[in-house]
Amino acid sequence: MSKQKILVIGASGQIGVELTLALRKIYGANSVIAADLREENPLLKDTGPYVSIDVMNKEMLHVQVIRQNVTQIYLLAAILSATGEKNPSLAWHLNMQGLLNVLDVAKEEKLHKVYWPSSIAVFGPTSPKKNCPQQTVIEPITVYGISKYAGEFWCNYYFHKYGVDVRSLRYPGLISYKSSPGGGTTDYAIEIFHGAVAHNSYTSFLQKDTYLPMMYMPDAIRATIELMEAPAGNLSVRTSYNIAAISFSPAEIATEIKKHIPDFVITYAPDYRQAIADSWPQSIDDSVAHKDWNWKPEYDLTRMTTDMLENIQKGK
Ligand code: NAD
Ligand code: SER
Repeated sequence: MSKQKILVIGASGQIGVELTLALRKIYGANSVIAADLREENPLLKDTGPYVSIDVMNKEMLHVQVIRQNVTQIYLLAAILSATGEKNPSLAWHLNMQGLLNVLDVAKEEKLHKVYWPSSIAVFGPTSPKKNCPQQTVIEPITVYGISKYAGEFWCNYYFHKYGVDVRSLRYPGLISYKSSPGGGTTDYAIEIFHGAVAHNSYTSFLQKDTYLPMMYMPDAIRATIELMEAPAGNLSVRTSYNIAAISFSPAEIATEIKKHIPDFVITYAPDYRQAIADSWPQSIDDSVAHKDWNWKPEYDLTRMTTDMLENIQKGK
């Protein structure tokens, strides 16, 4: 394990910061290089090496991989669902070309492993709404979902054709307090906590009864590392695994927050993100991940809400 040299691309983002810190705990600070197009996130400062990388520049990426003796890449750079709908061609370009650059370099340099996240956004209005299975009808309606679905099949292709050990999870909406979210449809479930702590109120851009699959960040980080550490022979899915934890609506999370902040008031002003949310399943069947590498979430809505509020209140 100590011989690994890991490059995390997109390390200053919502997942990247927490994943980099978790990997540094396991593999050692100097074995995990944080990389991003933007400046180093303050939470990463003095915790290990940082390099500036544009994943769209394949040569720059390739040079860094050779220079730093990288053995594994975690690719987190992407444009998410809501931002993607504002600039579809940019989202397609970054989400596809960034992945292809990493897969090519992994193939050429014979890297040990690659991690790349997909999303529940691969599913569309024709997929089952409840307990959406691993394999089902998949007809995404957002550019983000299309890019994730195509990306899953590129991962599958590089694994079968070139032997690149690339692994992937279809994350649900991820909820966290350490670094800000990057423009997703599920971001309301983060903003609501900040609104509750700052001024006892929040206006949701999704309707009150919009159920979506969600997960607390500690579960997502653990799932990622557990998948990456699972024996290759146990993995039956080389596109991307469904994983699940919690499913709730804006009204339900508001009720949970009111248990801590009784004066909290939620109002609703749905916008263009409602149509995106309506196209996604309400809950996910993750039994294949459970069977293959023993995936199990730890946080439910109550435990997550308590932890989010405590930490946001501490940082106020
Ligand atoms: P984010 O937007 O918070 O972070 C992405 C990071 O990538 C940013 O720091 C950004 O500066 C960086 N980046 C952008 N373009 C780059 C480039 N050309 N070169 C290098 N870095 C670049 O996103 P996130 O929420 O941390 O998501 C990470 C991954 O997880 C994405 O693939 C996303 O689709 C996936 N995902 C996230 C969620 C979620 O709820 N956060 C859910 C499902 C899937
Ligand atoms: N949280 C992400 C989004 O809303 C799901 O991939 O875009």
